[in-house]
Amino acid sequence: MQKIRKAVFPVAGLGTRFLPATKASPKEMLPVVDKPLIQYAVEEALDAGIEQMIFITSSSKRSIADHFDRNPVLEQELEQRGKFDLLDMARHTIPEGVSCIYIRQPEPLGLGHAVLCARPAVGDEPFAVILADDLIDGGEQSCLGQMVDLYAKHEASILAIQEVAEEETSKYGIIDPQTLYERVHQLRNIVEKPTPLEAPSCLAVVGRYLLTPNIFDYLEKIPKGAGGELQLTDAIARQLKDHPVLAQEFQGKRYDCGSKLGYLEATVEYALQHQNLREAFKKYLNSLLHEQKI
Ligand code: UTP
Repeated sequence: MQKIRKAVFPVAGLGTRFLPATKASPKEMLPVVDKPLIQYAVEEALDAGIEQMIFITSSSKRSIADHFDRNPVLEQELEQRGKFDLLDMARHTIPEGVSCIYIRQPEPLGLGHAVLCARPAVGDEPFAVILADDLIDGGEQSCLGQMVDLYAKHEASILAIQEVAEEETSKYGIIDPQTLYERVHQLRNIVEKPTPLEAPSCLAVVGRYLLTPNIFDYLEKIPKGAGGELQLTDAIARQLKDHPVLAQEFQGKRYDCGSKLGYLEATVEYALQHQNLREAFKKYLNSLLHEQKI
């Protein structure tokens, strides 16, 4: 079996749902408590054994590369002030030995196009795709870690899915599932952003994929889909006709940090788990309750 060694992070979208915050800075750099979304995503990849991070970026996303690079001026300053904890944090946004590759997507032509831009760096091996604006707290094991374990059994493309409300289907790729066993389904079909009437189920694809490399052949051939963009979903719909594609209902909680409400939910819940903030933040929330502000 080929090990999953590479993860693709498509970060070249426009982030229009989060304007004006995302006008000049990437939504993937929005912090949840004290870490940017993209760092949570990279940590999830590391936890799942990924060794190479491939970022699909655009001209307005330079701060992402800066975040994972060294900053000698900051490091020197922290060292002189004896702030060694902070120095360690600044230095190790990514562990030594893990390589980062940055590829420009010249125009935001869609998620499918962004993934296709990764082809020269991925080559002929299975790989992960992580959408950093879907923040997933997997609890005991990260969402991608759960998927990598399932890949070891099936060696097929795997999509992370979760159940959504009927009226929400038009925001997601929705699968037509044939259940194999608990939480694992084989796809009979997948439809991008169907209306509730058209939706084959309420099982929605969220921002984690493990893909076999033949997906690139399908991505090369698909026409523009929903929203005039090259949709990864459309390539998967073709792939599943020739090869089994699975969907896994992961254990854990997902926060849609590409939306303002999802981002706020993540911020509150991660603050309530944060070692140094938890107690003070709880106290603050209780005071709001007491003042009947919530
Ligand atoms: P979204 O559908 O969330 O689009 O993309 P978006 O542009 O980021 O945000 P909104 O909807 O305008 O608010 C899903 C993922 O695919 C990436 C995005 O960066 C995001 O991680 N993407 C999308 C690209 O890298 N390139 C594209 O052309 C489109």
